[in-house]
Parts: sequence; structure tokens; C-alpha cells
Amino acid sequence: MRPFHFPCSRSSSKLPTDLLGFALVLVLCVASSIGSCTDQEKSFLLQFLAGLSEDGGLAMSWQNDTDCCTWEGITCSTDMTITDVLLASKGLEGHISPSLANLPGLLRLNLSHNSLSGKLPLEELVLSSSSIILDVSFNRLSGDLQELSAQTTIRPLQVLNISSNLFTGQFPSSIWGVMKNLVALNASNNSFTGHIPSNFCTNSPSFDLLELSYNQFSGSIPTGLGSCSKLRVLKAGHNNLSGTLPDELFNATSLEYLSFADNNLHGTLEGENVVKLSKLATLDLGDNKFCCEIPESIGQLKRLKELHLNHNKMYGSVPSTLANCTSLITIDLRSNNFSGELTNVNFSNLPNLNTLDLLQNNFSGKIPESIYSCSNLTALRLSSNKFHGQLSKGLGNLKSLSFLSLTNNGFTNIANALQILRSSNNLTTLLMGLNFRNERMPDDDSIDGFENLQVLSLSKCSLSGKIPRWLPKLSSLEVLLLDSNQLTGTIPDWISSLHFLFYLDISNNSLMGEIPTALVQMPMLMSEKAAAQWDPRAFELSIYTYLSLQYRMVSAFPKVLNLGSNELTGLIPPEIGQLKALLSLDLSFNKLSGDIPQSICNLTNLLILDLSSNNLTGTIPASVNNLNFLSKFNISNNDLEGPVPDAGQLSTFPSTSFDGNPRLCGPMLARHCGSAKTPFVSTKQTNDKAVSPLAFMIPFGAFFGLGVLYDQIVLSRFF
Ligand SMILES: *[C@@H]1O[C@H](CO)[C@@H](O)[C@H](O)[C@H]1NC(C)=O
Ligand SMILES: *[C@@H]1O[C@H](CO)[C@@H](O)[C@H](O)[C@H]1NC(C)=O
Ligand SMILES: *[C@@H]1O[C@H](CO)[C@@H](O)[C@H](O)[C@H]1NC(C)=O
Ligand SMILES: *[C@@H]1O[C@H](CO)[C@@H](O)[C@H](O)[C@H]1NC(C)=O
Ligand SMILES: *[C@@H]1O[C@H](CO)[C@@H](O)[C@H](O)[C@H]1NC(C)=O
Ligand SMILES: *[C@@H]1O[C@H](CO)[C@@H](O)[C@H](O)[C@H]1NC(C)=O
Ligand SMILES: *[C@@H]1O[C@H](CO)[C@@H](O)[C@H](O)[C@H]1NC(C)=O
Ligand SMILES: *[C@@H]1O[C@H](CO)[C@@H](O)[C@H](O)[C@H]1NC(C)=O
Ligand SMILES: *[C@@H]1O[C@H](CO)[C@@H](O)[C@H](O)[C@H]1NC(C)=O
Ligand SMILES: *[C@@H]1O[C@H](CO)[C@@H](O)[C@H](O)[C@H]1NC(C)=O
Ligand SMILES: *[C@@H]1O[C@H](CO)[C@@H](O)[C@H](O)[C@H]1NC(C)=O
Ligand SMILES: *[C@@H]1O[C@H](CO)[C@@H](O)[C@H](O)[C@H]1NC(C)=O
Repeated sequence: MRPFHFPCSRSSSKLPTDLLGFALVLVLCVASSIGSCTDQEKSFLLQFLAGLSEDGGLAMSWQNDTDCCTWEGITCSTDMTITDVLLASKGLEGHISPSLANLPGLLRLNLSHNSLSGKLPLEELVLSSSSIILDVSFNRLSGDLQELSAQTTIRPLQVLNISSNLFTGQFPSSIWGVMKNLVALNASNNSFTGHIPSNFCTNSPSFDLLELSYNQFSGSIPTGLGSCSKLRVLKAGHNNLSGTLPDELFNATSLEYLSFADNNLHGTLEGENVVKLSKLATLDLGDNKFCCEIPESIGQLKRLKELHLNHNKMYGSVPSTLANCTSLITIDLRSNNFSGELTNVNFSNLPNLNTLDLLQNNFSGKIPESIYSCSNLTALRLSSNKFHGQLSKGLGNLKSLSFLSLTNNGFTNIANALQILRSSNNLTTLLMGLNFRNERMPDDDSIDGFENLQVLSLSKCSLSGKIPRWLPKLSSLEVLLLDSNQLTGTIPDWISSLHFLFYLDISNNSLMGEIPTALVQMPMLMSEKAAAQWDPRAFELSIYTYLSLQYRMVSAFPKVLNLGSNELTGLIPPEIGQLKALLSLDLSFNKLSGDIPQSICNLTNLLILDLSSNNLTGTIPASVNNLNFLSKFNISNNDLEGPVPDAGQLSTFPSTSFDGNPRLCGPMLARHCGSAKTPFVSTKQTNDKAVSPLAFMIPFGAFFGLGVLYDQIVLSRFF
């Protein structure tokens, strides 16, 4: 037995707030529940059902002998007319039958998040019905939206969402003429081409939202958008638009959100235009070719929260008036040519500032003291500028600071920097490479704090001294880069006490002694547990590496041990086979001797194995051939002997992987096995460092999609 059913109380999505209203609805429902939907409506729905190849169980509910107002996803009005067909996320597949358009009272049709395919019966659904909301987003609808024959009747449609489908072709323009009621149009994430129509607003005075991002629109921004006096949201990023921002656009003075990110636009941001958009909260013009200076009048945008001008060709100093935009939360000026000192901007007027990203500009001078009053600042990136001087005590006031990158500037006094930063308890990422040049690595026991630090880079600072004793206090450390310094001494035993460390690069120093057993007992490298399981945290800002590849999460970093280019001696410890999780092992350019241990065959996840330029002897263990994922392998310039296996993984590497081992023989080498009189060819001069990294990147990326990883391991420079 079905429970007694009130069809129209289902239809109201909002709960009646007062009892009286509720009682009224109840009475009406009971009174009208005697009726049911018409057979005709029922047949339109059944036609739609018949067009589906997968109905997600809908047929169970959609039975011809029951009232279709009770069917799953259907809502009727009090007079038993179908008003809503709400079938989002039902697992539907197949076609959308135009029969739905015949439902005489249909107001809302929502088919989003299914797998519907084929064409959208736009003409029927949009023009021949009473619909006010049509949402078919997140399906696999394809084909183009045809221009419609001349229409004069005004249509009630208010919201049209066709985003995240596979639509192609030119975007129709004639249709908008009859859409007097259109409020929101979302066509993002398709493959529309051609020009953006200019007539959205000629007839629809309430037009509020236009979202066309992630398509292939080209041509210029239509001036007609300027007549959209109610337009609040305009997003057309990630297209191929060219030309400049037309003056007319700035007549759309209701704009709160304006994004043309990632297009081909150029020209300047004119001061007299910008001020017209006084309601603007988000301005995103990143990844274009905009030129020239930020206009002073930007200070009049009192509501501005997000400013993205990254990756353009802008220059000049940042106007002091920017500090008048007191609502600012994010300032992103990455990759331009801005210059001058920042001290003219009074950051203390920006209490909400959360992110300041100035990566890759030409800023100089000291970090302005006023920044230290932005107590909500969580991410500060000043990398690749010309800042200099010592860090100020004020930096310690930034208690929310979680991400700090100072890479590649002229900062001095590392001891002072560490003393100041240790009180920033929330710091998780600290990138300071390419600073403090030729200073001494502080080895001071008083350095502590940094309890939450996960990523630390002091790469390429030419620091002298030892691997510092305070490092084991950084108990959350996951990624440590101390490469390209002048550190001496041995690799300390305490390294394995860093329980979370899984990326260690201490290459290109002057470290001596043997590889300690502690190093081959690093817990994270012994465990194959995916990093994402224990640390799903995203960085406040994506970390960039050389070639502008990026990491969004700590856990995306590979498991790496890089000890290359030091003065390590002795054997490769056989226990190295315990580091089963390793993706990259680089011991090249040391003075290691003895055999390549058999246990290396247990490192089955290895993508990169570089043992080149050591004093290794003996034969290549046959089991190395089982390292099926190896993409870069280098044992050149050792004193190995015997045959290179002529089948399997090793046979796929070029001779440069083996050169400089005169007693090695194999099909890819000058010396073939078995031919007793092979001439001695010395290839010892082949210096691996001279081989272009690109030579490896291409096959690596092509076969494994891991060009990012390769780049990052070989050219690790974090910004
Ligand atoms: C539904 O029932 C009506 C009569 O009750 C009948 O005419 C119609 O063919 C049926 N439709 C389907 C699809 O079975
Ligand atoms: C359609 O339904 C989905 C899922 O419930 C919802 O997120 C979306 O906002 C709806 N569309 C409209 C236009 O209301
Ligand atoms: C489709 O876009 C409309 C208008 O932007 C929006 O209200 C609706 O929530 C979107 N649907 C989904 C599933 O996001
Ligand atoms: C447009 O629809 C997409 C879904 O494809 C949604 O993520 C996005 O938020 C919508 N845009 C707007 C401005 O509502
Ligand atoms: C674009 O659409 C695809 C397929 O529906 C979806 O997986 C993806 O998340 C969408 N992207 C955006 C930015 O909405
Ligand atoms: C983008 O537009 C330019 C002309 O402005 C054209 O030369 C180029 O081929 C277009 N690129 C794509 C990917 O459509
Ligand atoms: C729109 O902008 C243009 C160019 O800036 C201007 O000439 C025109 O008067 C403006 N129209 C309205 C209605 O403000
Ligand atoms: C805007 O900033 C300038 C310079 O920083 C300042 O002199 C001026 O008083 C500010 N104007 C307003 C309206 O806040
Ligand atoms: C800092 O951020 C918090 C929430 O993120 C907010 O409540 C607070 O008002 C902000 N502080 C300032 C000074 O804006
Ligand atoms: C430090 O980080 C934690 C966790 O992310 C956060 O809850 C807390 O508010 C932060 N502290 C400050 C002072 O921002
Ligand atoms: C490889 O690991 C297994 C166990 O994990 C061990 O039994 C075996 O001896 C190792 N092989 C070598 C050559 O060390
Ligand atoms: C390592 O090899 C080099 C050159 O082959 C040689 O000069 C040096 O003496 C060797 N060192 C050791 C420790 O065997």
C-alpha cells in the first residue's frame, strides 16, 4: 500500500514558515488530490522515458497506471499541471526527447549531471514552452545550437545552463532577441567557436549573469555588453578573445565579477574606465597581454576583493592608491614587469589581505613594514624580484602566515631570518633558495619552532657549514632542499628521525663519508603508503618549478633521494633495497665504490636511477632489468664490466646510459659481447651534465605523462 500522498506539498521546496500558510497548502492539496495529471502529459513524459537508454530506475516509478504527479522527479501545481521535471544526477543516458517541450505548464527542467547525449532540442525547449529554467549542464550533449527562424513571441526563459557539455560551432545570436526575461546564461566548458554575440541585452533588461569561460570564442569583446546595465557577473576566461577592453564595456556599471583570464587581449587598463565599475569585487585579467601601468583610479574600487593581473606585460610601480581598496583579499601580480619599491603602498589599510603574490617582477628595496600589519595574510610570495636586506622582526607578527616564498632575491643574514621566522607557528611552506649567498648555515641550537613546517628550501644559496643540527626539530618536515650549497661534513644519522620526510635533495654540496644506514631507514621512503592519504592539504599558492610547472599539494611531490655531486665514499648500502617507495634515486658524481647491490631490484617503483660517475665495479645485476618503470637510467663513467642485458628494460636505454665503462659490452655499446677483439673506446669524457635534460624529457613525458616529475627532479628550483 502506498501512503496517502500530497502531491503539491512536495512541489514546494521551501518549508511553509507559518502554520496558517501550511494549513492552507494542506487543504488545497487534499482538495485537489482527487485529480491527476492528464493522459497527454503522461504520454509526453513516457516519450521522454522511451528516448533514454539508461533510465536510472525511473521506469519503476513512472508507471502508466499511476498519477504522473507522483512520479519520481515530477512536481505538479495545485491544478495538477506538471511544473517541474527535476532529474539531476539520476544516471540518465540517451537522448532528450523534444516531447518535454509539449508539457503545457512546465516551468523548470533540470537534467544536469547525467550522461545525456545527442542534440539539445533547443528550438522546442526554449521557444515552444513555458519554461523559465532549463539546466542541462554536465551531460554529453553535442552538435551546434542552430540559429532559429525569425521569432517574435517573447519567451519566459530566465535561466539557461548548457555548460559542461560537448557543444561545438558558432554560438547562436538571433535567439536572444526574444529572451526578454533572460537573467542567467551559462555556456561554459564547451567548444563553442566564433564571436561572442553582442545582443544579449538589447531586449533583456534584467540580464544578470553571462558565463562563457572555457570555450574557443575568438574575435573581440562585443561592445553590446556595455548596454547590459544589470549585468553583475561576466566570465569569459579561457577563450581566444583578442583586441582590447572596449570603452563601452565599462558602461555595464553593475558588474561585480569581471573575468577575461587566459585570452589574447592587449591594451591598457584605462583609469577613466576602471572607475566606472564601482561595484567590482573581482577583476581577473590574468594570462593576457595587457600592457602598461595600473591606473591610480583603481583606488576608487572600494569593494574590490580579488585583483588578478598575473602573466601580462604590465610595468611601472604599484600606485599608492591601491591601499584605498580596503576590501582586498587577494593581489596577484605574478609574472609582469612591475618595478620600484613597494613602500609607497600602505598595506596596513588592507586588513583583509590574505594572499599577496608578486612572483617574477622587478620590485626592489626592502619588504615594506606596513605588510606586517596584515594579520590575516596567509600566503606571501616575493620570489624572483630584487628585494634585498634583512628580514624585519615585524614578519613575526604575521601569525596566520602559512606560505612564504622569498626565492631568488637578495636577502641577507640567514641566521636572523630563521630567528624571526621560528615564531611563525603556522608556517608550513618556506622557500628561501637563491638568497643569503655565501653565508654560513646557522648551526645554532637555539633555532626551534617551525613545528608545522612541511616544505623547506634553502637551495642554491652557496651556504657553507654543515647540515644543521636544528633540522630534526622540524618534526613535520616532508620536503627538504639543501642542494647547491657548500655544505661539508657527513650526512647525519638523525635524518631518519624526520618521520614524514619523503623528498630529500642534498645534491651538489661537499658532503663526505659513507651513506649512513640511517638514510636507508627513512620511514616515508620505506612505506608505499600514498602521500595523499596522510597529507591532503593544498598549498595556499601552487609551488612553481623551473619551466613553470606547478604543484598544488605537498603530496603531489614524488618520493626522491638525491645525493648526487658530493664526495661520498664507500659502498652503496645493500639496505637501500628497503626504500621501496622511492621514485628517484640519484647517487651520481660521488666516489662510491664496490658493486651495485642486488637489492636495488626491490626498488620497483623507480622511475629514475642515476649512479653515473662513481667508482662502481662488478657487473650489472641482472635483476635491474625488472625495474619496469625506469625511464631514466644512468650508470655511465664507472668501472663496471660484463654484458648489458640485450633484452628487457635496460636494452631500451641509449648508449649514453652506459658509456665510460670500458669493460662493459652490449648491443648498444661500441664493444659487443663475444667479439673478443673489440677496440677500446674511451668515452670517459662524456659528461652527463652536458646532456640536455630535454633529451630525457620527451620520452619520459610521452610514455608516462610525467614530464612534470622529471623536470622537477632534474631542475628543482622552487618558487
Ligand atoms: C498508457 O495508458 C493509456 C491508457 O490508459 C494507453 O492509451 C497508452 O498507450 C499507455 N501508454 C503506454 C506507453 O503504455
Ligand atoms: C539543477 O540541479 C542541480 C543539482 O541539484 C543544482 O545544483 C542546480 O543548481 C540546479 N539548476 C538550477 C538552474 O537551479
Ligand atoms: C547552471 O548555471 C546556473 C546559472 O549560472 C546556476 O544557477 C546553476 O546552479 C548551474 N547548474 C549547476 C549544476 O551548476
Ligand atoms: C556555470 O556552470 C558551471 C557548471 O558547468 C558551474 O560550475 C558554474 O559555477 C556556473 N557559473 C556561474 C557563474 O554560475
Ligand atoms: C568541464 O566538463 C567536464 C565534463 O563534463 C567536467 O569533467 C569538468 O569538471 C568541467 N570543468 C569545469 C571547469 O567545470
Ligand atoms: C586564436 O586567435 C588567433 C587570432 O586572433 C588565431 O590566429 C589562432 O589560431 C587562434 N587560436 C586558437 C587555438 O583557436
Ligand atoms: C557607453 O560608452 C560609450 C563609450 O564609452 C559612450 O560614448 C556612451 O555614451 C555610453 N553609453 C551610455 C548609455 O552610457
Ligand atoms: C587614496 O589614496 C591616496 C594615496 O594613498 C590618499 O591620499 C587618498 O586620501 C585616498 N583617497 C581616499 C578616498 O581614501
Ligand atoms: C581575518 O579573517 C577572519 C576570517 O578568516 C575574519 O573573521 C577577520 O575579520 C579577519 N580580520 C581582519 C582584521 O580582517
Ligand atoms: C593557524 O592554522 C590553523 C590551522 O590551519 C588555524 O586554525 C589557525 O587559525 C591559524 N592561526 C592563526 C593565528 O591564523
Ligand atoms: C627484496 O625484498 C624481499 C622482502 O621484501 C626480501 O626477502 C629479499 O631478500 C629482497 N631482495 C634482495 C635482493 O635484497
Ligand atoms: C675512482 O676512480 C678515479 C678515476 O677512475 C680514480 O682516479 C680514483 O682513484 C678512484 N677512487 C677510488 C677511491 O677508487
